Amino acid sequence: MNVSDAIAQRRSIKRFGDRPVTREEIEALLDAAVLAPNHKLTQPWRFYVLGREARRRYGLALGQRKANKLPDPDAAAAVREKTAAEYEAFPALIAVAMVLNESPEVREEDYAACMQAIANIMLAAVDRGLGTHMRTGAVLEDPAARAAVGVRDGERVVAIVSVGVPAEMPAPKSRQGAAALTQWTD
Ligand SMILES: Cc1cc2nc3c(=O)[nH]c(=O)nc-3n(C[C@H](O)[C@H](O)[C@H](O)COP(=O)(O)O)c2cc1C
Repeated sequence: MNVSDAIAQRRSIKRFGDRPVTREEIEALLDAAVLAPNHKLTQPWRFYVLGREARRRYGLALGQRKANKLPDPDAAAAVREKTAAEYEAFPALIAVAMVLNESPEVREEDYAACMQAIANIMLAAVDRGLGTHMRTGAVLEDPAARAAVGVRDGERVVAIVSVGVPAEMPAPKSRQGAAALTQWTD
């Protein structure tokens, strides 16, 4: 598959089929990730591949945060369990973390580099018939979520990426064309 086709075919995939994602497939995605551009070759990315138990613990951490917003204890318990089950069932889940450099300028560049690494993961997945969905949010700072990932001190989890064979291919979301967002100067 050429890159343009992979870019055009990528979607955020919410539902995956039952086929497991192999270790070799995940390693291939991560090999693509580390080819991303990164200023001064800081190679700021670190990858955590979560097994079933860790995925459930991560889902529980996220579910607990959702449950905390619900006054009804039964509804809270249900949403916690639903989220835990959803994450446990993902065929694969990769947490992408960055090493926190002491310089704010380097940190910003390193964050950008990690996002480019994630883009590589997503496009390499399309090339292999896999789908992905990256997620961010305050949960990534949650101590329970960090513990589920196993991220080291001095690192920030920048996104969680679920991976699997798409159960369905969503239609592309409509976007403004680049021409309307571009100014050409002489
Ligand atoms: C930096 C970033 C953070 C995202 N975080 C979330 C998230 O927390 N939850 C979620 O459901 N989707 C998240 N997404 C996925 C976007 O919602 C998705 O890319 C967008 O709806 C466009 O759909 P598409 O990826 O299928 O083209 C994130 C995407 C990016 C680039």
